[in-house]
Amino acid sequence: MIIAWRNDVRSDGLAGQEREPGEIDTSVAHVARVYDYLLGGRANFAVDRAAAERAYAAWPGGLDGVRADARAHRAVLGRIVRYLTREAGIRQFLDIGTGIPREDNVHEVAQREAPESRVVYVDRDPIVLAHAHQLLRGTPEGSTTYVYGELREPRAILDAAARTLDFSRPAAVMLFGILHFFSDAEDPRGVVGQLAAPLAPGSYLALSHLAGDVEAEALAETFRRLNAAMAESVTLRGRDEVAGLFGGLELVEPGVVQLPQWRPEAGTAAAGPLPMWCGVARKAG
Ligand SMILES: C[S@@+](CC[C@H](N)C(=O)[O-])C[C@H]1O[C@@H](n2cnc3c(N)ncnc32)[C@H](O)[C@@H]1O
Repeated sequence: MIIAWRNDVRSDGLAGQEREPGEIDTSVAHVARVYDYLLGGRANFAVDRAAAERAYAAWPGGLDGVRADARAHRAVLGRIVRYLTREAGIRQFLDIGTGIPREDNVHEVAQREAPESRVVYVDRDPIVLAHAHQLLRGTPEGSTTYVYGELREPRAILDAAARTLDFSRPAAVMLFGILHFFSDAEDPRGVVGQLAAPLAPGSYLALSHLAGDVEAEALAETFRRLNAAMAESVTLRGRDEVAGLFGGLELVEPGVVQLPQWRPEAGTAAAGPLPMWCGVARKAG
């Protein structure tokens, strides 16, 4: 069963796939907890920290380098949500692969710009579910909902999200740091297409993806180590492959770029090569 938490009221039994939250498994590293560790959080275990320290020693700049890059990832997520609310007029967000809550989650950034914004969060990791209540403190004018769901079941996610979002009006789907957990055989482009199909014209898709063509040797070694230690397995992709994930949607300027280059704001850290691509695209009217 998909489990949804809506503001502070829990409601079970949404129509959709059967999905029970699993146990929090501390015998193997999990990406939500590894990422939390990189960002200085406390929702991680020894197995996550050990995997991160061994794998990210091979990242450009080592553990300090990946920590700076993880902060750059959160920063561009914020810039993109600000762009979508301020310039694109978006008031509805579906954030899939939410991660353990931090400061400046999607609803906080969106509702600072437009308090009436509605946000549905989706993640499949039980540790994110355990912290999901932190995501449900939005503005009274807006709405935040958490759905325990799996991106490999896009139809079930859309059905659950439709209880909060009106898909006859423009919405933004955020796929930040999640599609690299899909192998080519799992057809990530097809999954994106299924999510985009029911969206109204004027909707947006924003995504980020680990790069296979920036600092390629260091990244290959990092994920050789991490894939051996982590429950999820990463597939690195080059810029053209990442651009291809947008399917027929129209990329907005500056297209698919490394994180610091996406519409930098005053204070955006100037970084050297950062092995992660991001972009935003619009569904034509
Ligand atoms: C690297 S974190 C990204 C967190 C956040 N989106 C950000 O950019 O800061 C990736 C998240 O995606 C989730 N995830 C990975 N594969 C997933 C899937 N197939 N369905 C739902 N969530 C998934 C993980 O549990 C994790 O919390």
